[in-house]
Amino acid sequence: MTFSSTTNRHLTLNTNAKMPTIGLGTWNAAKDKVGEAVRYAIEEAGYRHLDCATVYENEKEIGESLANIFKGGELGREEIFITSKLWNTEHAKENVVKACRQTLRDLKLDYLDLYLMHFGIAIIPGKGSWEPLDENGYVITEKIPLWETWQAMEELVRMGLVKAIGVANFTAPMLLDLLSYAKINPAVNQIELHPYLQQEALVQFCQYKNIAVTAYSPLGTPGGLGEKDPILLKDKTIGEIAQKHQKSPAHILLRWAIQRNTIVIPKSTTPARIKENISIFDFELSEEEVETIKTLDRKHRFVNPEDWWKIPYF
Ligand code: A2P
Repeated sequence: MTFSSTTNRHLTLNTNAKMPTIGLGTWNAAKDKVGEAVRYAIEEAGYRHLDCATVYENEKEIGESLANIFKGGELGREEIFITSKLWNTEHAKENVVKACRQTLRDLKLDYLDLYLMHFGIAIIPGKGSWEPLDENGYVITEKIPLWETWQAMEELVRMGLVKAIGVANFTAPMLLDLLSYAKINPAVNQIELHPYLQQEALVQFCQYKNIAVTAYSPLGTPGGLGEKDPILLKDKTIGEIAQKHQKSPAHILLRWAIQRNTIVIPKSTTPARIKENISIFDFELSEEEVETIKTLDRKHRFVNPEDWWKIPYF
């Protein structure tokens, strides 16, 4: 995995595809706002990468917007890198292709650039919920090994439905296991990353194995916070560095992400912020600033499935 330009606008994946280092996140993007956000991001702010998932329940709205964009004729499908994710209830091999085809229908696409296994955990389908709980509050899992799901995902590449496959929320032991049988290695591991949860060893391990890393919740997911969560965008040190560069705290967080060779997918449905978030290629954090940001790590997870599934996943 190498930078394809000095401005770090793309990373080259282990498939040789180029993945833009900044993409628009769509988790928690409301159905009535996401279509316009996608249009604005692509047509006006210059985004060339969208991060989606079935479980975000907004792929139909994104698909409408994409169809309009491509109908306009100025941008070809191949100019936008589009990711989606297989939800945990669809891990059975016969469900993987169905779920992928549904996402393609919803997004109105004939292929995805990247399809990720959203979590390395299989949840029982057909209970009317993405994450049904038992009477003790534990999510109801299903006995499907990860290799079965991965092999089915490999089949999607062979079928031409997806250009690359990868994982999300995988730990190093999970990756090592996957690499022991994968015929197609994961191109990406998408994990929560920001200065309060730096996961340096995991990032380095993935990069060593030629698996690109995408950082989710790079701004600390403001607005979706639990009451006790710290507010990363208001961090004093980040604020001071921002002031020095005449940039916003969001700029510092996103620039930090791309300087550590990760891909970053800030979510916003606010046009001014969508534009703000991609303006990170005109300045650089110094080595000293990067060292200072290192000291902010407090291993704080904003997104912890243990809170909803009662399973100590990480
Ligand atoms: P909104 O969508 O209303 O603009 P993350 O990507 O870490 O999950 O963060 C997403 C959250 O951060 C959303 O609530 C989004 O709000 C907000 N946000 C996105 N960009 C910025 C920004 N540049 N400054 C402040 N908040 C932002």
